[in-house]
Amino acid sequence: MLNLRDVHVHIGKLHILQGVNMEVKPGESAALLGRNGVGKTTTLRAIMGLAARSRGSIEFDNVDLGTCPPYKISSHGIGYVPQGRGIFPNLTVLENLNIGMSGKRDSEREEYVFACFPRLKERLKQFGSTLSGGEQQMLAIGRCLMMRPKLIIFDEPTEGIMPKLVSQIRREIYRINQAGVSVLLVEQNVETALKLCPRVFLMEKGTIVYSGTSHELKSQPEIVHRYLGLTQ
Ligand SMILES: Nc1ncnc2c1ncn2[C@@H]1O[C@H](COP(=O)(O)OP(=O)(O)O)[C@@H](O)[C@H]1O
Ligand SMILES: [Mg+2]
Repeated sequence: MLNLRDVHVHIGKLHILQGVNMEVKPGESAALLGRNGVGKTTTLRAIMGLAARSRGSIEFDNVDLGTCPPYKISSHGIGYVPQGRGIFPNLTVLENLNIGMSGKRDSEREEYVFACFPRLKERLKQFGSTLSGGEQQMLAIGRCLMMRPKLIIFDEPTEGIMPKLVSQIRREIYRINQAGVSVLLVEQNVETALKLCPRVFLMEKGTIVYSGTSHELKSQPEIVHRYLGLTQ
C-alpha cells in the first residue's frame, strides 16, 4: 500500500533522511518511533510531498507519489494529521472540517465524524482558536476523516494534550484502524505505540534501524533501550 524505498532528503547541506525503507500494508497499523530529531516528521513530510526527495521512491497503491504535486497526494487517499495540528484559527469548526471538500458538503460523513468526536458537534460555530489542544487535535483528525482516506498519518497526536482527552484520541485512532483505515503513527509514548500498532519501525539518524512486530520488540528491551533510551 505505502512503500518507501531508499528515500533521501537534504535540507540545505544537511542530509536529513539517509535511505528510508518502510512498508505499510492495507489495513495495517504501524508505528514510527525514534528519539527527537532523528527524522520522523521529515519522513512524513516526504510522503506528503512537503519535503523534497533527493533520491528514492514513494509509492501509494502503486501510484508513484513522486510525480504528484503535494495538493494531490491527499486526494489519492492519504490523510495527514501534522505535528501541531494545522487548524485554521480564524475559521469555525465546521469550516475547518470541510476545508478539503472543495465546497461540497457530505452530511453523512459529518455525522460519522461527530459520532467519533461529539465535542466537535457541540462546538461547530466556534473558531478554531477557541478550542483546547485536544479539541484541535480531534478537529485535525476529523478533517482527514471527511475525505474518506485509506491511510492516515499521525505525527505525535497526543503531544501536549490534557490527559482526559489523550485516551479518547488513542481510542479513536484504534477505532479508525478497526474500521479498515491503515495507520502510520509517530508517537513518543512507546507503550501506547506498541499497544496500538502491531508493526513497528525504529528510526535513528535518518534511517530505519529496526522493523518488526510490536510483539517481537516487547521481548527485546535492549533494542528499545538502545534506540529510544527507555527500558520497558
Ligand atoms: N526545515 C528545516 N531546516 C533545517 N533543519 C531541519 C528542518 N527540518 C528538520 N530539520 C532537522 O532535521 C532533523 C530531523 O528533524 P525531524 O524530522 O523534525 O525529526 P523528528 O520528527 O524525528 O523529531 C533534525 O535535526 C532537525 O533539526
Ligand atoms: Mg517530529
